[in-house]
Amino acid sequence: MQRDLLRESQSRLDRERLRPDLQRRDCPVLLSQRLVLRAPHEDDIDAIAHLANNEKIATMVSRMPHPYTKTDAANFVERTKEGAIGNCVYAITRADDGEFLGCCGIENMPDDESVAEIGYWLGEPHWGKGYTTEAIQVLIDMIFRTRNEVDHVDARCRVVNEPSRRVLHKCGFQFRGPGMIASLAVGGSVAVEWYRLERRTWMSLKSWGGQR
Ligand SMILES: CC(C)(COP(=O)(O)OP(=O)(O)OC[C@H]1O[C@@H](n2cnc3c(N)ncnc32)[C@H](O)[C@@H]1OP(=O)(O)O)[C@@H](O)C(=O)NCCC(=O)NCCS
Repeated sequence: MQRDLLRESQSRLDRERLRPDLQRRDCPVLLSQRLVLRAPHEDDIDAIAHLANNEKIATMVSRMPHPYTKTDAANFVERTKEGAIGNCVYAITRADDGEFLGCCGIENMPDDESVAEIGYWLGEPHWGKGYTTEAIQVLIDMIFRTRNEVDHVDARCRVVNEPSRRVLHKCGFQFRGPGMIASLAVGGSVAVEWYRLERRTWMSLKSWGGQR
């Protein structure tokens, strides 16, 4: 019996290695009014390398190297396919023309399945158009709708990161406390604010919209 289970598990792993898309069965393509969120792929490498090579982005996220090269972008795409980065990583693209705008995703939180932590960045030419708020709202909807075990979504942003704090407020997150996290590009620890969106708050916000 145990041998059968082991064999089945091994064959599943083999299938997933041959078909990396199978690992993303919990990461459906997401659509919003102006955006398509889908898995990053090789065609995105040039755009990722171009947009991510920006100190203003690297110093606001925890693990992005700076300078950021085409090799970094190729590694990133490869590792997302292997499931080595995060739980679900999405390319944020414009629905109209397919242009790559940035990335968002769910971090791996192996110890506690009741929490999903999200991260995001957008290329500077696309800032200030509401794209990230739109992307994070569909990402959150997907998390709460498809993962019953998740009770709250967390996010951390640097104390100095006004635009990111604003995105979190617009998505219904509430401040929970201060903290410190390591930043690769800064080369040390930075002060952050910890935000949380509880499932019950999300449900209330969704039903509030429907009552208008
Ligand atoms: C944070 C980031 C993702 C926001 O992307 P975006 O698509 O421009 O965000 P949105 O347009 O949805 O919302 C931005 C909000 O911040 C506001 N904002 C922008 N600059 C601001 C500033 N200096 N002070 C206060 N608010 C500011 C905008 O006015 C907007 O709010 P509004 O809709 O109420 O006017 C983008 O700036 C980015 O990638 N920054 C670098 C990486 C990063 O910070 N990632 C998040 C790590 S936690």
